Amino acid sequence: TTVEWSAEQTGKSGYDHFMLKEIHEQPNALRQGLSGRLDELHGRIAAAEVAELDPPSAVHFLACGTSYHAALYGVELFRQAGIPAQAFLASEYATGRAPLPDGGLVVGVTQSGETADTLSALREARGAGAETLALTNVVESTAARECDHVLYIHSGPEIGVAATKTFSSQLVALNVLAESLVGPRVGTRDLLDGLRALPDHLQRVLDESRAEAVVDEYVDSDAFFFVGRGSNFPVALEGALKFKEITYEHAEGFAAGELKHGPLALVTGETPVFAVVTGDDERARKTIGNVKEVEARDAPVVAVTDGRSDVERYADHVLEIPEAHPRTAPVLANVQLQLVAYHTAARLGREIDKPRNLAKSVTVE
Ligand code: G6P
Repeated sequence: TTVEWSAEQTGKSGYDHFMLKEIHEQPNALRQGLSGRLDELHGRIAAAEVAELDPPSAVHFLACGTSYHAALYGVELFRQAGIPAQAFLASEYATGRAPLPDGGLVVGVTQSGETADTLSALREARGAGAETLALTNVVESTAARECDHVLYIHSGPEIGVAATKTFSSQLVALNVLAESLVGPRVGTRDLLDGLRALPDHLQRVLDESRAEAVVDEYVDSDAFFFVGRGSNFPVALEGALKFKEITYEHAEGFAAGELKHGPLALVTGETPVFAVVTGDDERARKTIGNVKEVEARDAPVVAVTDGRSDVERYADHVLEIPEAHPRTAPVLANVQLQLVAYHTAARLGREIDKPRNLAKSVTVE
């Protein structure tokens, strides 16, 4: 027998869609993004491009869409390192700009480096005298050229409109950025080990995911909700964004604790809730409390978890991730949700690589 390949399929390396190909490229994308940045010998994580920068007094992130979710994750990293940090939606920055203390750094998170809203917010920050840094994938993009500094995420080209591998690469690069700026401290060695293990952990998620089987059960649901706390809150937001972008179904991401302040009114037996619960700390326990609330309203619960808490007891299905460093667990959980979105869209026959009304890079404000 002969197998016929169209040019399109060759570009997709045999995958049905660029999105699925790019999901599977993630272990390599992350290896590229970490290459030369993990100094095992000295127990340092640093990128040469930013190694000379002083620790900033504060960090303001500017971003849109998926990159904004990465920025929310970045906020938590910097705060844990003792540096005040905030994330702004670039399109709201003109009205919502907060004062940046002397020695502060403005970081534009933008995969393409060409998003009009992000570029104009960065220009405004520069105009006000701020030092700026572009965290981007595209070499010599406008953001890379216009900012004082640039840190490349080295994810490789992404064709699918829905960002997948570049989001994972952004989360990794944000760890590299925070470590580069703040320098080695207690916990750096563990993080280094965690980042080094991440590509293999991710490969396991890709090889063993049950996302396809799980979505089969819920494809006809009324709406899809995603909840998480702490650094899993941006994962919930990203899980819902990916889902709505490519399935055209109603999906919302919430901070787990906010469910009871409104969204719970929408929860029924026809609205599966994807709960991201990693680790076994106070945050995990509180999220499990929120999971019990939706379970009591008959909503099907899909737990995305490393199995360290007992969230499985309250879940109808489990999408498992390996036990990992607390900073890398959100990356792994998010990949499960990428697969959930992908397989749902595939079941619904959607145009996965080019969703209606959306563009890869939005160059108007
Ligand atoms: C568009 C894309 C999104 C992306 C956003 C920001 O809306 O469809 O996937 O997250 O732009 O893009 P950027 O290149 O700035 O990260």
